[in-house]
Amino acid sequence: MDFQLTEEQAMLQQTAREFADREIAPKAAEFDKQARWPTEIVKQMAELGFLGIAVPTEYGGSGLDAISYVLAMEEVSRACASCGVIMSVNNSLFCDPLLKFGTEKQKQEILKACASGEKLGCFGLTEPMSGSDAQTMQTVAEKKGDKWVMNGSKNFITNGPHADYIIVFAVTDKSGPKVKHTAFVVPMGTPGVTAAHHDEKMGIKAAHSCTIFFENVELGDDAILGEVGSGFKVAMATLDGGRIGIASQALGISKAALEKSIAYAKERKAFGQPIAKFQAIQFKLSDMATELDAARLLTLRAAAMKDQGVRHSLESAAAKLYASEASTRITHSAIQIHGGYGYTTEYGIERHYRDARITEIYEGTSEIQRLVIANSVLKA
Ligand code: CAA
Repeated sequence: MDFQLTEEQAMLQQTAREFADREIAPKAAEFDKQARWPTEIVKQMAELGFLGIAVPTEYGGSGLDAISYVLAMEEVSRACASCGVIMSVNNSLFCDPLLKFGTEKQKQEILKACASGEKLGCFGLTEPMSGSDAQTMQTVAEKKGDKWVMNGSKNFITNGPHADYIIVFAVTDKSGPKVKHTAFVVPMGTPGVTAAHHDEKMGIKAAHSCTIFFENVELGDDAILGEVGSGFKVAMATLDGGRIGIASQALGISKAALEKSIAYAKERKAFGQPIAKFQAIQFKLSDMATELDAARLLTLRAAAMKDQGVRHSLESAAAKLYASEASTRITHSAIQIHGGYGYTTEYGIERHYRDARITEIYEGTSEIQRLVIANSVLKA
């Protein structure tokens, strides 16, 4: 087992850290307060190759690996969790399935544009009445002549209001004992596709999400991603990668909270000395640092398995489960260490606390991650 980063990985981490400190961190509070989509940061991330990190260069990406993706995601999310998830959705939930399941034409026309950041992608699985139980989706695509006609809606679609393309999962066959689904890549400008106003959220406010409606949307066979009838597997395999992205986002949030807590504990005095001298604070910092480290190791292991091309459903689920719940605990402790200042917006700790919460919900709740893990360990 090698814990050493390659020169390339360390360089990318350094670039991401400097970029995040210089360009993102100074604006993160404003993005949050105004719920402002960070247009300029998305553009800069595209220029740095952060929107298609693990996509080969011939398809517009940076040609790096999943470990590099984790490292960059952690740094970007440490500055701004909204910017982190915008990056994660485009990389993991859009480019990754196009690379894995797309036709050469889809890769040349769509993947190239999205991995280079010229265009942006999003992922439509969740529906108003179908979240954790994703197979119960109501969106349908019926074959009529040589066209597929899609009707339905998807909600909580991160990047939705700004995306150029969406991967949509729809029921395409109800005839057998098991409903079959198919994945489609749909340009957002297709007649019949409309996006609602963005959701008002507790955290990650700058990463706009919305409901998207599909009304008699006509698509050709060239919009199909993967095989007809295999859409649910495309969704699940995509989420195996997506969960690594969200685990990395949680790492970044936790790291920001820990770093700020260490700095504050050294500077803030109580009872005649810096609060860092008190064991009550030291024990909190120790637990925070240990949990962050454990979460990072789980996440890097899942990424390393992805890079090796081996199935990593359990490892991704464990990484996301642990990193997201640890992030909630770490940001909770960070508020406690900062006392009243943690509860105000002054140090940005309350933003990290609000942002951490979603990591336990999207791309599969903690309960769903536990189900995925249980299914694997019970099979073993
Ligand atoms: N890779 C490939 N195939 C897989 C797979 C994987 N990781 N996981 C399951 N499958 C296959 C199974 O082998 C099975 O195949 P067969 O039909 O041939 O046997 C098929 O998929 C169905 O699997 P299950 O029977 O396990 O399916 P299920 O209905 O019991 O559901 C579940 C499993 C884990 C609960 C799944 O529904 C799930 O992950 N739910 C959570 C959904 C989710 O994460 N949504 C997030 C939305 S995206 C988002 O949040 C984006 C954002 O805003 C950032």
